[in-house]
Amino acid sequence: MALVAVLILTLLSLGIALSGTLTRLLLVVVPYAVFTLFLAGVVYRILKWARAPVPFRIPTTCGQEKSLAWIKTSPLESPPCLWGVIGRMALEVLLFRSLFRNTRLDMGQNRPVYPSAKWLWFFGLTFHWSLLIIVLRHLRFFIEPIGPCITALSSLDGFFEIGVPTLYLSDAAMLAGITFLFLRRLIVPQVRYISLFTDYFSLLLILGVVTTGLIMRHFFPADLLQVKNLALGWVTFSPFVPQGVGTLFTMHLCFVFTLLVFFPMSKLMHAGGVFLSPTRNLANDSRIRRHVNPWNAPVKVHTYEEYEDEFRAQMKTAGIPVEKE
Ligand code: HEM
Repeated sequence: MALVAVLILTLLSLGIALSGTLTRLLLVVVPYAVFTLFLAGVVYRILKWARAPVPFRIPTTCGQEKSLAWIKTSPLESPPCLWGVIGRMALEVLLFRSLFRNTRLDMGQNRPVYPSAKWLWFFGLTFHWSLLIIVLRHLRFFIEPIGPCITALSSLDGFFEIGVPTLYLSDAAMLAGITFLFLRRLIVPQVRYISLFTDYFSLLLILGVVTTGLIMRHFFPADLLQVKNLALGWVTFSPFVPQGVGTLFTMHLCFVFTLLVFFPMSKLMHAGGVFLSPTRNLANDSRIRRHVNPWNAPVKVHTYEEYEDEFRAQMKTAGIPVEKE
């Protein structure tokens, strides 16, 4: 189904590229509509998560929590304060630390064994870092003058100067990463069983963006000056229709725009969700601070003092000792 959807999208984008009116619409009106939908969708999802009540401390821990001074603690596995949470979150987001501990299940001799499985971590990390580098490199279209950081990043990315134009390492890594992630869903039976339309669709969409981009860079170049003027026109709110940006560029944009609209309503929102996950963003400080569930209904208590005041006479008659005479 996902493949069919992406094929339909490819044909649609071809149709748009061939029609002057639709191309004009795609280059002038659609970018703003897409960006608004993307931003509104992301803000909506983030606010929805942020508003969800979290009455309990539920951080996932896998190490000794801070307690008595002579017990060795594990500040990253069981962060006792905000700095610990930030450290753990940074390692999670930048290095996929928990995925590094991924295991697979093997039925050994008469008992299950769980050997380490690093491939998903490796290709997952490769994919995400490459995507970030590619997006940062694309900033060259949207800003003028191009900042030295972006120029340096592009030079570093094309360091080996393979081919003309230079093959970016991030492009090769991205292609390897996304191919692995896609094949994993197709080939590993357990993963295939739990994979849904949206999983394949996200991967195929990104694959569409990347392949059209790569073909455009290495085989059928777009007029980069026109592209730059177009992108600058978008960000300065003076969009215009450039002459002949090329079919592949139009297709590239169609994939990118679909991806951006799809992003907030899909699992791709894990990019923002990880920061709002209470199992990750809370400190495990239950022994340091008393956390009171704000939903607790006010409890009507009857203290011992009140009890004794009420029954003092009877208690004395029955010979029960009292605190106050
Ligand atoms: C999710 C966003 C996007 C992704 C992941 C993406 C990905 C890619 C990739 C992988 C390439 C291959 C070459 C390279 O890495 O530079 C590429 C090329 C290209 N992309 Fe994108 N792209 C995105 C958005 C855009 C947008 C919004 C534009 C419009 C300005 C654009 C314009 C181009 C152009 C003109 C090329 C050819 C570059 C060259 O010939 O050096 N891309 N894209």
